Amino acid sequence: MRVARMMHLLSLLFCALLCQVTGLETIFGLYGEMVAIPCKTEANIQDDFILIKWIYYKDQQEVNLLVKKQKEEANVTAVGEYKDRVSMAANLSLLLADAKLTDQRTFKCMVVVGGDIKQHIVNLEIQKLPEAPFITEKAEALEIGKRTKLGTCFAKHANPAAKIVWLKNNKTLLSDGNRILINETVVKQPETQLSNVASTLHYSAEKKDTSAQFSCRAEHPLGVDLVSPPETFSITYSTENIALQVEDEDQLVEGSNMTLKCVADGNPPPTSFYFLLKGHMVKVENTNMYTIQDISRNNSGEYKCSLIDDPSKEGSRNVTVNFLDVKLNLDKTVIREAGGSLNISLDIDSSAKPTVSWTKGGVKLNQGPKNTNLAYSDAGFYELEVMLGPLRRKASFHLTVQGAPVIRNLHEQHDKDGNRKVLICEAEGSPKPAVSWNINGTLIDEKSFDNGTVTHKISVVPSANLSVTCIVSNSFGIATKVIDVSSLFEDVKVDKRDPAGDDDKTKLVVGVVVGLLVAAVVIGVAYWVYMKKSKQGSWKTGEKENGSSEEEKKLEEKAEENSQKADV
Ligand SMILES: *[C@@H]1O[C@H](CO)[C@@H](O)[C@H](O)[C@H]1NC(C)=O
Ligand SMILES: *[C@@H]1O[C@H](CO)[C@@H](O)[C@H](O)[C@H]1NC(C)=O
Ligand SMILES: *[C@@H]1O[C@H](CO)[C@@H](O)[C@H](O)[C@H]1NC(C)=O
Ligand SMILES: *[C@@H]1O[C@H](CO)[C@@H](O)[C@H](O)[C@H]1NC(C)=O
Ligand SMILES: *[C@@H]1O[C@H](CO)[C@@H](O)[C@H](O)[C@H]1NC(C)=O
Ligand SMILES: *[C@@H]1O[C@H](CO)[C@@H](O)[C@H](O)[C@H]1NC(C)=O
Ligand SMILES: *[C@@H]1O[C@H](CO)[C@@H](O)[C@H](O)[C@H]1NC(C)=O
Ligand SMILES: *[C@@H]1O[C@H](CO)[C@@H](O)[C@H](O)[C@H]1NC(C)=O
Ligand SMILES: *[C@@H]1O[C@H](CO)[C@@H](O)[C@H](O)[C@H]1NC(C)=O
Ligand SMILES: *[C@@H]1O[C@H](CO)[C@@H](O)[C@H](O)[C@H]1NC(C)=O
Ligand SMILES: *[C@@H]1O[C@H](CO)[C@@H](O)[C@H](O)[C@H]1NC(C)=O
Repeated sequence: MRVARMMHLLSLLFCALLCQVTGLETIFGLYGEMVAIPCKTEANIQDDFILIKWIYYKDQQEVNLLVKKQKEEANVTAVGEYKDRVSMAANLSLLLADAKLTDQRTFKCMVVVGGDIKQHIVNLEIQKLPEAPFITEKAEALEIGKRTKLGTCFAKHANPAAKIVWLKNNKTLLSDGNRILINETVVKQPETQLSNVASTLHYSAEKKDTSAQFSCRAEHPLGVDLVSPPETFSITYSTENIALQVEDEDQLVEGSNMTLKCVADGNPPPTSFYFLLKGHMVKVENTNMYTIQDISRNNSGEYKCSLIDDPSKEGSRNVTVNFLDVKLNLDKTVIREAGGSLNISLDIDSSAKPTVSWTKGGVKLNQGPKNTNLAYSDAGFYELEVMLGPLRRKASFHLTVQGAPVIRNLHEQHDKDGNRKVLICEAEGSPKPAVSWNINGTLIDEKSFDNGTVTHKISVVPSANLSVTCIVSNSFGIATKVIDVSSLFEDVKVDKRDPAGDDDKTKLVVGVVVGLLVAAVVIGVAYWVYMKKSKQGSWKTGEKENGSSEEEKKLEEKAEENSQKADV
């Protein structure tokens, strides 16, 4: 009986080894925790077993762990490492406390049920999540275009070893053999057999990586992904562009302060510069500005700035200090004689072509003041404005044109009621001329204008033909002009043009009748001419036509002359 049982056990062991080769059930346990290894035999053994025994394989040898008989306490038969860590659960599972990686081995339970012996073999694997990954050995800065070790990500104390994935802005970075190199090493801890993974990222940064977040993720079969806190890196690059700027350049005028600014890219930005001020070199530190106070026109010129450590990188600029000198030879009150010259001279010295504008009496002039042959009308208040950028210069003078008066016009007008005549004398002169007449008249009005014109109106009642003289005078001289004024009475006669002079009604009636007869004859002749023309047809000569039309013209002209005479 004992021998038979032994044989049976041996056959079972053989099967067990065979079964191991063909693949076993694997049980996963968590590191440091209690692991329950179930004894899964086909039958329900819980109540029927006589004896159950747990063993493990060490160097292909079976080693007993514990044994339990029905209705008895389990007896731990293990010695050494398992002595204090194994126990049996009520459901007959083997309980293994404080699981370690060295527990990853094959366990077997053997159950004696009735006359049968059943067994179950399991592989135990112990898993452990890594500790939270973190990045160390961080680069201080990443230089653009230069592959640098960015850092090392550690995922420690895991089984199996974690897999580390590098992330930039949550996107996976893959080694491309060039810009991105990722090198992973796995180190097993001698005591615990747990694996530490270190992954080093070598990275060649771009400008846009300035605020990129780098992190690493530890991936593990336990299914929980752990991500390191993100890290950002300052991206450095050397200066590529440098430029000299002048603050408010278009406002630069003499007496202002000129601030030069050297603008360079690069990270970190350069802090020291050379300013080349028209050949004179100045070094500035911890600023990129240089101010020249109270500039003048000879501060115009070429300015440069460059990097201290790389003077070949330089920016330059031609600076112009605006200036505007205006000299007008006329000032305050300018007195000139009529017909004389103003002799104006305007000297402008400026950094650029300015705009010049003139006004006379507040009205814009298209050109400057008239320079020669001055008229009284040229008198007035002239203002000059010269502008260049922010600069403005003004000058003004008051021109008085003096001279003996001249009479521009002397004529008569009929008064409305026909009882008087109005005489108008128009004179020019400065100072304003006094107007007088050689006859006694009634002053209607006198008007004087800015252009030196005086209009003097009197009314007279001439009883006979008169020669009337208008006399104008001022301190520069005197002028006279004569007009013949016929008596009002004779004017009426002239108007009637009746040689007989008598007011004969009969003659008037005869005149009307004769007039009517003449009109009838004219109409008849006109009709006859018209009929003759139409009979002549289309071959009449153009000359004739011209001739008749020319005659008509002459008639019209004669009529006009007559009517003009009547007006006088
Ligand atoms: C447990 O086993 C040991 C050694 O096999 C034995 O000495 C001991 O008596 C057993 N105890 C019980 C309670 O079975
Ligand atoms: C057996 O019992 C242990 C401890 O009570 C438990 O962890 C385990 O899940 C049980 N196994 C089965 C198969 O019920
Ligand atoms: C990355 O993902 C985490 C979690 O989803 C989120 O909080 C974080 O803002 C993301 N970072 C970036 C740069 O997108
Ligand atoms: C990767 O790591 C191993 C071990 O530290 C090292 O020998 C190898 O040179 C590394 N490769 C790179 C590209 O850094
Ligand atoms: C120029 O700078 C000096 C010193 O800062 C200051 O006193 C002066 O007012 C400035 N001049 C102008 C025109 O801004
Ligand atoms: C600028 O010009 C003035 C006269 O126009 C001269 O006196 C002065 O020395 C000049 N300054 C420089 C720096 O050339
Ligand atoms: C400044 O002017 C000089 C002479 O006219 C010229 O040679 C130089 O190129 C100019 N510099 C700049 C920055 O325009
Ligand atoms: C204006 O210039 C002319 C010629 O140069 C000169 O003869 C004349 O006297 C000058 N007149 C005045 C008012 O300066
Ligand atoms: C103008 O009237 C005054 C008196 O009113 C007289 O003495 C003078 O002779 C008159 N002159 C003429 C030209 O009629
Ligand atoms: C002067 O002004 C008056 C009124 O505007 C005008 O009638 C006259 O023709 C002007 N004379 C000259 C010489 O411009
Ligand atoms: C007055 O002048 C008109 C023409 O203007 C002339 O016909 C008339 O004879 C003159 N009368 C006297 C009295 O001279």
